[in-house]
This record gives sequence, structure tokens and C-alpha cells, in this order.
Amino acid sequence: MKNIDSYTHLRGESLFVDDLIVRQDTLYGLTFDSPKAHGKIISVDYAKAEAVEGIVKIFTYKDVLGENQIGGIIQDEELWAEKEVHFQGQPIAFIVAESEAIAKKARKLIEIKIEELPIITTAKQAKEKGSFINAPRSFSLGNTKKAFANCDYVFEGETFSNGQEHLYLETQGCYAVPLENGNIKITSSTQGPTQVQKIAARVLGIAMHKIELEVIRLGGGFGGKEDQATPWAVMAAVAVQHLKKPVKYILNRHDDLRMTGKRHPYESTFKIGINKDLKITAFEVEFLQNSGASADLSPAIAERTLFHATNAYFIENVLTKVLSCKTNLPPNTAFRGFGGPQGMFVVESAIAHVAINMGIDKRLIQHANLLKENDVFSYGQVATTVEAQNSWNTAIEKFDFYKTEKEIEKFNTNNNLVKKGISIMPICFGISFTNTPMNHARALVHIYQDGSVGISTGAVEMGQSVNTKMLQVACLTLGIRPNKVKLETTNTTRVANTSPTAASATADLNGKAVLMACNSLIERLKVVASKMLSVKVNEIIIKDDSVFINHEKSNITWENLIEQAMLERVALTENAHYATPIIHFDKSKEKGHPFAYHVYGTAITQVTVDCLRGTYEIDKVQIIHDFGKSMNLGIDIGQVEGALVQGIGWMTLEEIAYNNEGRLLSSTLSTYKVPDVFSAPKTIEVLPLETPSTEMAILKSKAVGEPPLMYGIGAYFAIQQAVKAYNKNYKLKFHSPFTPEKVLMGLYEI
Ligand code: MTE
Ligand code: HPA
Ligand code: MOS
Repeated sequence: MKNIDSYTHLRGESLFVDDLIVRQDTLYGLTFDSPKAHGKIISVDYAKAEAVEGIVKIFTYKDVLGENQIGGIIQDEELWAEKEVHFQGQPIAFIVAESEAIAKKARKLIEIKIEELPIITTAKQAKEKGSFINAPRSFSLGNTKKAFANCDYVFEGETFSNGQEHLYLETQGCYAVPLENGNIKITSSTQGPTQVQKIAARVLGIAMHKIELEVIRLGGGFGGKEDQATPWAVMAAVAVQHLKKPVKYILNRHDDLRMTGKRHPYESTFKIGINKDLKITAFEVEFLQNSGASADLSPAIAERTLFHATNAYFIENVLTKVLSCKTNLPPNTAFRGFGGPQGMFVVESAIAHVAINMGIDKRLIQHANLLKENDVFSYGQVATTVEAQNSWNTAIEKFDFYKTEKEIEKFNTNNNLVKKGISIMPICFGISFTNTPMNHARALVHIYQDGSVGISTGAVEMGQSVNTKMLQVACLTLGIRPNKVKLETTNTTRVANTSPTAASATADLNGKAVLMACNSLIERLKVVASKMLSVKVNEIIIKDDSVFINHEKSNITWENLIEQAMLERVALTENAHYATPIIHFDKSKEKGHPFAYHVYGTAITQVTVDCLRGTYEIDKVQIIHDFGKSMNLGIDIGQVEGALVQGIGWMTLEEIAYNNEGRLLSSTLSTYKVPDVFSAPKTIEVLPLETPSTEMAILKSKAVGEPPLMYGIGAYFAIQQAVKAYNKNYKLKFHSPFTPEKVLMGLYEI
């Protein structure tokens, strides 16, 4: 089944927040934000701005009737700055006007005096100054100290991976409308409707039931709207509370780029011990996470970095530590992979570093250490149904790796100014929110009396096609055709207390709830059918829009059945709740079984470097991916392709740059380069791995949203190999993104 949104998407008919027809009395919001990265607010003069015709009111922290606090995991973030500012772009006030143009004009007239304080922009500086978000976290397995003392080689090194801009096509935005009795309805482009509802209630000082959150769909989120859709919606809600008029606020691209957080940059140091037989015996890492000015989701992201620090490898002795460093940058946030990619880049770098020093190929070390059945992760979970070796071996074989490797060698011997490189990138990614209590979801299913069905879940559609998957689950379980089923918007009055659409687990969690609700309805309907046909209940099968007695089609249609159920006053609505079984994690011991299962795969990446210019092309990426038993291969391969290209962008082109004043330099699309059709791989081949899969995945179809992003890491090492092939003096560096500028420097390093 193709994505059910494709029809309206292609016709330009799909609705996003900005497409909503607004009420006649709608006002427009705009944020006034800090021009300095750190300082005391001495004064703000709004007089000239307020005098502009069409300005209705400028809101500040003084207008907050509840708490001026939007922090989630840690309550350390003001909605509007009170006495101090901590990053350039931090909201200070919210201008509400009759039009956006008027608000913009007024914004320029606000006069602010700030007494500047010292600015920290890097994680290292923060560590030196002892500036942290929270206490460090550390995972440990075995005894690294002993292992280092007893192994053949020990190597140390450092890595840096930069941030990444989400660049969702639809910028952040919301539309808040007053209802009767002080109730407010907010339509928001958020991955976390309940989060927005909860924080809005806190800031406005009213009960959650007075706020209804509606999400139609998102023009992409990629993690950037898990926590950071909240402030804008809450600002609009505060304005509605005071003005009793609708307020719309869609961020323009420039404001969105400046004011929102991104993927966390990481500076890390590693120490790795290995024996002559290529077994890695010990691995230590200290991760410095550049968290930005407040916690946001940083602690959870830091945790996932530790979970994925050894990627798809088994290492007997591991000691990892992560420090969430507080800096004067916008709070960094969730981004596809959620700290996992940053962790995996370090272990891949460590292996590359070892390989070059031992004078052997990186892939030999990778292969020698791949996870096997019953190996244990540093966090205590025992690996089962492991597909690390299977996916690796399948990739080598199906894609004729050795032949390609030979061809590349030959090419490099025969060419002086163009060099090719190849790499293998295995992945292993844990599925479940690492915070166990978040792993739950609900579904509300209505069968209307004409036989049509409406389904609400907590899932937010953001292009990943979760609604299509929900529809598939419903059709399969109810035995009816897709045209009878509609996926409703995501709304907190229909499905409450939801976890955000994140962690790649949305289809698993909400899909299981849909399955349960539909099963309950079917149980009831089978009883009705058995009475209509005077047969036993267990002889009834409902499929193809009809009632069957065993495999014999009866003359009773789905519509007849629903009609009869109505007459018999049978409930045609069902609500179900699913919570992932088995998983648990004890933070005091840093051990447990946090993931329902893991997703595996292996990517082979080929690149060509122009050694005169330092430019490169990604020729081909071939992937063996563990989809489990994919319920929709078209959608799932689309997810792999999208994630891969996003990962390659992070590793190669996308260079976030802040200056020492904490100002974002890459604040436009002319200074921030995302992959386009020319920089995407010329060929992407994705083949599903045959696996038994797991019951924990919806219909055995494994989560797919984030894991393939990490295949993109392969591009870094393929380019590195090509650079080394050209310049024997090049000393391997692990400093991403590997931009053409850095490639050029590497090519001519002496
Ligand atoms: N795909 C599209 N088209 N747009 C998105 O915003 N977000 C990614 C991934 N795929 C995203 C996407 C991220 S960060 C996650 S966590 C998952 O989708 C979330 O959806 P899922 O849980 O349904 O996979
Ligand atoms: N993944 C993604 N988003 C999250 C998680 C997670 O593990 N925990 C909280 N938000
Ligand atoms: Mo995805 S980073 O979990 O929204």
C-alpha cells in the first residue's frame, strides 16, 4: 500500500498549520530574541515598538500567570528570559500584531541593554569551567584497566562530530484559538502534543483539560519538533489567554534556524585495546556533549550515546562516560538517532585509528568483533536474534564486495588525480524509548453505523507514513478494505497522555494499540455474526468486507454485520492501551533490558575523490537492512534512503558554524549546505535481510525511522580511505563533517 498521504501531497491539498483558514480576528506573533549569547538584561525599552500602529501587545515573562518554565527533563528553561540571557536567539518577548509585517517592523524598534558575561561555545571550554547540565553518566562492563594492561596494543585518540540542522520543510508553527470558558485549542506542528499541552497548562496556570492540542501532520520533524515545537505554541497560548483572540505564529526560516537547537556536537576522547588476533579487548570513551544553554532532551540523548557506544560490536571491557556540557548556544535537541550516531562515530573512528596503526584494513577489525548471539551489551542487556554477522556476510556476498574492492585498488593504481574509497558500516540500534515509562500508546477506534471506521492514535504523521501503517494494521485486523478506514488527526481529547512520536517506536507502540482495539471489536462482531448465521463463534472469519463461515463466504457483508450490531446495541467503539512488556532499566546500576529489540544492517559505501579540487561524489551505497518482516517495503525503503542521505549530509557537507560570540554563521541556506540531488549517492541499493524478526515489532515489521541514518557514517571512512590513497602523509583525523575544504587540506598535508 502506498503512503495514504501521497494523493493530497502530490495535489498540494494536504493541510499543514499554515494552511488552516484563520478566524477573522486572528492576530500574528513574532519573537523578540536575545542579540547576545550571555549577559544580564539591564533594560528593555518597548515604547517605540508599542507605538507602531497595529501592535496589539508585547508579552514578556511579566504576563505569565502560571510558571515561566518550559523545561522538560530538567526545569531549567524560561519561556521568556527574565534577568539573564544564555544564548543568541533566546526568546525575551512575544510581539502580537495585526499582521506579521507590522510585528517585524516593531521588532526592530525594541531597544535592549545587556551587560555581557563570558561566553562558552564549545563543550571543551564548558568542561574546563565546570559548566554542566547535570551529573555525568557512565556505563561499565568488565574491567578496562586490567584489560589494557594485558592486551597487545593500546591506542588513544580524539574525535569531533558537528551538529546538524533539522531543516524540516515546514518550519515551526502553531495556531491558538480561544474557546468558551477560558479553554484554548492549539494546532501545532509538534511531535509531542501532550508535551505542548502540559507545558502550556503549566505556563498559563490552568488545568491540562482546558487545553486541546491538535496535530494534523508535520512537514518533517526529524526530532526537531519533539521538544522544540513547545515554546512557540505556549507563547501563542499566553497571548490568547490575555487577548481572547486567535494568535497564529509560523516561524520564518531565518528565525527558525537562529532560535532552535540542533543535533548535539560531540568532542570525545577514546582509548582502545586490541590483541594481535584483532579482538578488541577494552574500550574507554569520554563523550563531551555540547548541550547548549539548557537541558532540553540532552540527558536522554547523552544516555543513548552510551547505549550505542560500541555499535554492532561486542567488547568485553567497556567504560564510557558522558558529560552534558552547558554552553551559550541554543539548547541542542533530538535529531534522528538521538545521540546514537555520535556514539557510533567514535567507535568507528577508534577502529580506523587502530587499523592504520596496525597497518591492516579497518574491515578486518570490524568483522572480528561483530556481535554474536548472547553477547552482552555494556548496559546489561543480552543480545538475542542478533543479525550483525548475518547482515555483514550477506552484504559482502550479495554485493560482491571483494570484486569491487579489487576494482577500486586497480582504479587507484591507474589513476593519479582521482581516487576511490570504500567502507563497510554495520549498525545496531536499540528500539524503545530509553526511558522505560515512556513506552506506551493508545488507540481509539470508532466503527460508524454505515460500516466506515475512524481511527485515532497518539502517533503524529510527519512523513514517515505512520498513518499508512496504522491503516494497514486496522484493515488486516478488521478484515476490511482500506477505503473504509480513515486515520484521524492526532488530538489530545481523543488520545491523551501520549509519548512523543519519536524513538522510531511510534508504529510499534500505536500499532499494537490499534491491533488490540480492533481485535476487541472483532471479538464482539463475531458473536453477532454467529447469531445471524446460527454457527459457532469460532467458525466465523471476517475478511474481504464479508463474513465467512470457516472459508466459505456467507451472504452477510461487513455493512450488514454493523447494522445488526447497532440493532443489538453492541458497542462499536473501542479504546486500547499498549505498554511494551519485558523492558526495564535501573539507572542506579546502569543495567537492565531497555530495548524491546535491536535493528541491524550493513552498508557498503563507494566514493570518488577529485584530488585536485578536494570534491567528492558518493558513487554507490549498498545496504542489507534488517526490516524484520516489513509490512510495507516501499515505505520502509524510503525511510532507509532518506535517513542514509541525512546521515551522509551530517558526515560530509552540513557544517554548523557559530562564532566566538555564539552567533550562528550558517544561518541561511546559502551558508549551510544540505545534500541535494548531486551530493546524494548516485545509486542506492537496499535489500531486506531474511530474519525471523520479533513479536515485539508490529506485525513483526521492525522500526525503521532512525537506524539507517547511521549508514551515513560509512561515507566519512570511504572518503578518508580515498584521501589516504592519494596522500600517504595524511594523518587520519576524525573531525566531521568531512567537507571538501577538509578533504583538500588532507590531500596536501605534509
Ligand atoms: N521521516 C520523515 N519523512 N520525516 C520525519 O520527520 N523523522 C524521523 C523518522 N523518519 C522523520 C522521518 C525520526 S527522528 C523518527 S524518531 C521517526 O521517523 C519517528 O517516526 P516512527 O516512530 O513512526 O518511525
Ligand atoms: N529516543 C527518542 N526520543 C526520546 C527518547 C528516546 O530514547 N527518550 C525520550 N525522547
Ligand atoms: Mo526522533 S530523533 O526520536 O524524533
